[in-house]
Amino acid sequence: MPFPPQFLDELRARIRLSDQIGRRVKLTRRGREFVGLCPFHSEKTPSFTVSDDKGFFHCFGCGAHGDVIGFAMQSAHLSFPDAVAQLAAEAGLEVPVATPEERAREQRRAGLLEATEAACGFYERMLRSAEGDAARAYLAGRGLTDETISRFRLGFAPGGNRLGAELTSAEMPESLLIEAGLVRRRDDGGSYDFFRGRVIFPITDHRGRVVAFGGRIIGDGEPKYLNSPDTPLFDKRRTLYGLATARSAAHEKGRIIVTEGYMDVIALAQAGLAEAVAPLGTALTESHLHMLWRLAAEPVLCFDGDPAGARAAVRAAERALPLLAPERSLAFVTLPAGEDPDSLVRAHGPAAIERLVAGARTLAEVIWTTQVEGRDLGTPERLAGLEQRLDDLVSSIADRKVQFRYRAHFRNRLRDLTGWRRRGGGAAAPGAGAPSTLRRGSGKAALDRRREQALLATIINHPALIDEHAEMLAMVEIGDPARAGLFRDAVAACGDDPDIDSERLKNQIIERGNGEALGELLEADIFVHAAFARVDAELDDARAGFREVLAHSLRRMREEEVRLARDNFVNDPSDENWRKMEALQAETVAGSDGIMFPAEHERQRY
Ligand code: CTP
Ligand code: MN
Repeated sequence: MPFPPQFLDELRARIRLSDQIGRRVKLTRRGREFVGLCPFHSEKTPSFTVSDDKGFFHCFGCGAHGDVIGFAMQSAHLSFPDAVAQLAAEAGLEVPVATPEERAREQRRAGLLEATEAACGFYERMLRSAEGDAARAYLAGRGLTDETISRFRLGFAPGGNRLGAELTSAEMPESLLIEAGLVRRRDDGGSYDFFRGRVIFPITDHRGRVVAFGGRIIGDGEPKYLNSPDTPLFDKRRTLYGLATARSAAHEKGRIIVTEGYMDVIALAQAGLAEAVAPLGTALTESHLHMLWRLAAEPVLCFDGDPAGARAAVRAAERALPLLAPERSLAFVTLPAGEDPDSLVRAHGPAAIERLVAGARTLAEVIWTTQVEGRDLGTPERLAGLEQRLDDLVSSIADRKVQFRYRAHFRNRLRDLTGWRRRGGGAAAPGAGAPSTLRRGSGKAALDRRREQALLATIINHPALIDEHAEMLAMVEIGDPARAGLFRDAVAACGDDPDIDSERLKNQIIERGNGEALGELLEADIFVHAAFARVDAELDDARAGFREVLAHSLRRMREEEVRLARDNFVNDPSDENWRKMEALQAETVAGSDGIMFPAEHERQRY
């Protein structure tokens, strides 16, 4: 029986690591840590460190490492339960004993695991026997090698009642096989095997223990696949096929590919893409997502290139939204119509999959396209409807930072959609034909746009300002996509060469392909409103004007964040949301608006 985690935490908290280790090793304090001669290898100069803060010891000489329980295990050669028992006794803690029910449940699970493992062996043997000829031929016809078949422990379930007859014994009563989902009882009291005449795909838990099976009909017929029922060992909503085999490859490559079926996982693995898993005939659940995020920051989901596949992708995207976090998202691959990863990799090799993965769409893209594609958005009401739907979706994101970013992202795309004026009539969105009042936007939006223009024009005419204000500029978001590109170019060029002058900066922007946006910006009547932005303005004047505009932009963004926090609190008045709102408001009110420019002496360098 595993110990309850709270108990182990309590144990670790009760015992000071340096006291415990100090009984066996002479420790000397050094700062916040202790050092001594490592008890796990022989040395003359101390490379063994103990940190009470972190609760860990570490030896830089031999790599020995662990917490207080690990130390007891390694230094006294104890098993984990024995080490825990000993430490608990020393700390005066009572080791929680398993209730009889818990112990019974553990024992039952152990019995079931024996049954599923025995069944797996039986199916494997059957595949290799004469009775397995057709199944073997079928698998070979699907391109699987013997090595792959062994690796995934594929098998064959013969007809009749063979498994039941073979496995039932005093130690493994029929009732156990029934509970494991391997055998069914008939109404007349007789029994029969659950899987008959099928190719068998063993399903393992995250530790690689067989917990259930999938069975495919050989050739055509219905149902194509049959899966074990849920049992005390197997909950298909919390299981991913191939997880145990995919894990190390996923960690190595920082990537996990999610396909639809057993055969996809196996075919990809055989082609060298071992980092693939599949749900078991269900849509991706929240548990699945959490399991995937333990393996990679952006699991790659593959969907069929048909309407059903598109719907499944949207479902997955919307299910993931509330759970997103910084560096935690999904990527979406759409397969060519009529193909699955198995057929693709067999016909075109792993490179075909790599190409698709390289072109995967982001989650934000999937959400956006679903809301926009194929819809006529030619009226203000319809646009408002779109805005409303996006807003509702974004509001479901629990993480404040990600929610904020999504809001900004969609706001920009909406603005783009409603037609920022662009040379060559590029705005392909349905809004392109809308009346020019819509395009020019209302007073406030126009003002924001003018500020944006002034900001950009100033830094392009006075690049020294970029380097001076790099950190603050990193927080600025530019709405218009063409100008956003220009802004990125300017910041990047200045990063490469902080002393760049205006002429060279303009050339670089043109070289990077944003000449058109640059021309448009410099022709704009912005210099009438903001003389400080002109190339012949004094740097000090330029700086003063620029800072005013910059502060304004940052303030606007801060206001937006506060507004978001308030909305969050109103929608979900939890303590947590209250604290977040309070913190932001306090920051905003405290003294200034939290916007601090680099001091005079700091920019003397420039
Ligand atoms: N599935 C299922 N029951 C079915 C059909 C499918 O549980 N009757 C599940 C299986 O996990 C299967 C997955 O859905 O692996 C995908 O099904 P499908 O795309 O129909 O099959 P493929 O994986 O392409 O199977 P194959 O290539 O063997 O035809
Ligand atoms: Mn298939």
